[in-house]
Amino acid sequence: MIAIGSDHAAADLRKIVKAYLEEQQIPYVDCGTDEAPSDYPIMAKAVCEKVQSGEAEKGILLCGTGIGMCMAAGKMNGIRAAVCSDTYSAKFTRLHNDANVLCMGARVVGSGLAAEILQAFLFTEFEGGRHQRRVDMVMAIEAEQKNK
Ligand code: RB5
Repeated sequence: MIAIGSDHAAADLRKIVKAYLEEQQIPYVDCGTDEAPSDYPIMAKAVCEKVQSGEAEKGILLCGTGIGMCMAAGKMNGIRAAVCSDTYSAKFTRLHNDANVLCMGARVVGSGLAAEILQAFLFTEFEGGRHQRRVDMVMAIEAEQKNK
């Protein structure tokens, strides 16, 4: 299951991404929104909560740049969000960072590139090994920060 959300700036891209997921027969839960204007942290939180609970394996967050969504998602425990505008980054954030949330900017990437980025993100497995140690170190920073 994939959780997906966008603000008004990426509502059209969200439709395109949903069509792609349907074509690939990948189930998804749509966390909205079709409201305009809208505040991206609301959808970032809703999508990340689905990932945190295990209802969704991964999340997709779309806004104008992808950056606001990525910042908001990065505040949530257990979330490793990456904003990607190219397929190389999307592939390697899975291979090396075990990213569980992909953020994209509808004002940055076209719909064709977005679909290729999405494909790279969804179909690349985490490599583990030495990268697991580094991901564990990232997550340890999150745990330490809880006491500050
Ligand atoms: C909305 O105008 C825009 O600020 C938002 O979509 C996003 O790009 C924020 O990071």
